[in-house]
Amino acid sequence: MQRNWWKESFVYQIYPRSFMDSNGDGIGDIPGITQKLDYLKDLGVETLWLSPIFKSPNDDNGYDVSDYCDIMDEFGNMDDFDEMLAEMKKRGMRLVLDLVANHSSDEHHWFQEAKKSKDNPYRDYYIWREANPDGSLPNNWQSIFEGPAWEYNEATDDYYLHLFTRKQPDLNWENPKLRKEIYDIMHFWFKKGIDGFRMDVIPFISKREGLPDVPYNDNEPAMISQTNWYANGPRLHEFLHEMHEEVLKHYDCMSVGEGIGVGPDDGVLYVDPERKELNMVYYFDHIYSNRDFKEGGLKDIDWIGFKKIIRDWDEAIPEEKGWNTFYLGNHDQVRSVSCFGNDKEYRVESAKMLATMLLTLRVTPYVYQGEELGMTNTPFSSVEELNDVWILNEYEVFKENGGSEEDFLKHVNTASREHARTPFLWNDKEHAGFTTGKPWLKVNPNYTEINAVKAQQDPGSVFNFYKELIKLRKDHKGLIYGLYNDLTPDSQELFVFSRKGIDGNYLILLNLTDKEKEYVLPSELGLGKLLIGNYEGNNFNGRLKPYQAMVFEIVA
Ligand code: NOJ
Repeated sequence: MQRNWWKESFVYQIYPRSFMDSNGDGIGDIPGITQKLDYLKDLGVETLWLSPIFKSPNDDNGYDVSDYCDIMDEFGNMDDFDEMLAEMKKRGMRLVLDLVANHSSDEHHWFQEAKKSKDNPYRDYYIWREANPDGSLPNNWQSIFEGPAWEYNEATDDYYLHLFTRKQPDLNWENPKLRKEIYDIMHFWFKKGIDGFRMDVIPFISKREGLPDVPYNDNEPAMISQTNWYANGPRLHEFLHEMHEEVLKHYDCMSVGEGIGVGPDDGVLYVDPERKELNMVYYFDHIYSNRDFKEGGLKDIDWIGFKKIIRDWDEAIPEEKGWNTFYLGNHDQVRSVSCFGNDKEYRVESAKMLATMLLTLRVTPYVYQGEELGMTNTPFSSVEELNDVWILNEYEVFKENGGSEEDFLKHVNTASREHARTPFLWNDKEHAGFTTGKPWLKVNPNYTEINAVKAQQDPGSVFNFYKELIKLRKDHKGLIYGLYNDLTPDSQELFVFSRKGIDGNYLILLNLTDKEKEYVLPSELGLGKLLIGNYEGNNFNGRLKPYQAMVFEIVA
């Protein structure tokens, strides 16, 4: 068993735009994060991942970078960054930044140059193709954010590729000069003292030879066909290995890839330590287990499928083959308690149950800001209230197809990533204490009920449960490294699993439903002490209350 800090720590993700505004412009910023480090310390945070903080015109809220070695104006400046990092170090925290290297902003000076002429030195930093002889686009690739993935450039009379918006041109990783630029950027930040990178859509950096058409088929949602086709190109692992040799191996750092289009069999190729690429990759499969790609919105959760995904990844990446991750929410998803739990009468119980799942699997858990408060989806009542470029593009298409605003909002209100981005709820004051100005995105109206101040004071809060769980995981290494065994693979209602490790064996009992459920313990299993639970009482009597979660020591 190879122990590492990035296995033992959990990762807390901050979406800086929505975390804390220090200067009243309505947008979260770096000094705002610095102000709230003690809150994070109180929770038990040791590793922080910040969504992009680099200079950006914000077409996709920072996932379109125009200068990788400078700070976004709205977030502050390099002095603010240095101060934040120093304050983190004082508190024993580590910082992971977001490397957006599949694409840049079209406002990056590389692209500004590249688009000028075919012989510009930066031309090969991007991917260009001419139209077909009949005038049609180079291929059938679609942007993940709607519309063709090709944009015309008049000066050169050809098209550049953008798998996201037209303001996010894809970088050409075939070009060694471009790769060197990226590695230099990584060194720049490591030398400043950061501890790692989360790598945005990293499976897309190597494109299939000849850029062949996506083979769409009726049995699969278009989004899945696209992402599977764009991911895991022929030179991907060569590039990641090179990145490891050129950069990562020189630091005691962590690296995690956003594993879009990655299944367990490919996943192991990213993280097998012998291959010297990344430490971790995070997958999407479980998040899709209640997505209704046809109708939009969410459908009932296929918990059996959900648990199979966890098992498949656990089996594909055993101890010697690397390390896994797990998350229930991030800035691209709906709020986890609204999606996988019950954000109404069992909000607190189900948020605690989900927290128990997240923090007791054999993984590095990723907790998204506000999850520790049990923050819920925000009711949006007009398209005017929305900001996200993806959602707004989808709305245009929806309208063109004759859809109404009302119907569109139904999808938005169940399944859009805007919910994750609404401001953090700090207190019950105006704008939930997030800003003294006008918040850039709607504040969830339930902030008088759900907020950090209240949660910190209430011993029964989701926050205090997280705190206890985080400590429990830290104190029981078996909950981190112990072998995982799913005891209820065929149940739609219960999730019971054991963890067997050097310092002890544990049983985790989770009721996934809002009804009381029976569970018969395997006869050979003897339960010891209850380490944590979300209801009163220390014993298991064969029944689990709605969304009940219990973690026991196993004594026999
Ligand atoms: C994945 C990021 O998580 C998402 O927020 C972003 O819009 C796309 N990549 C494009 O960078």
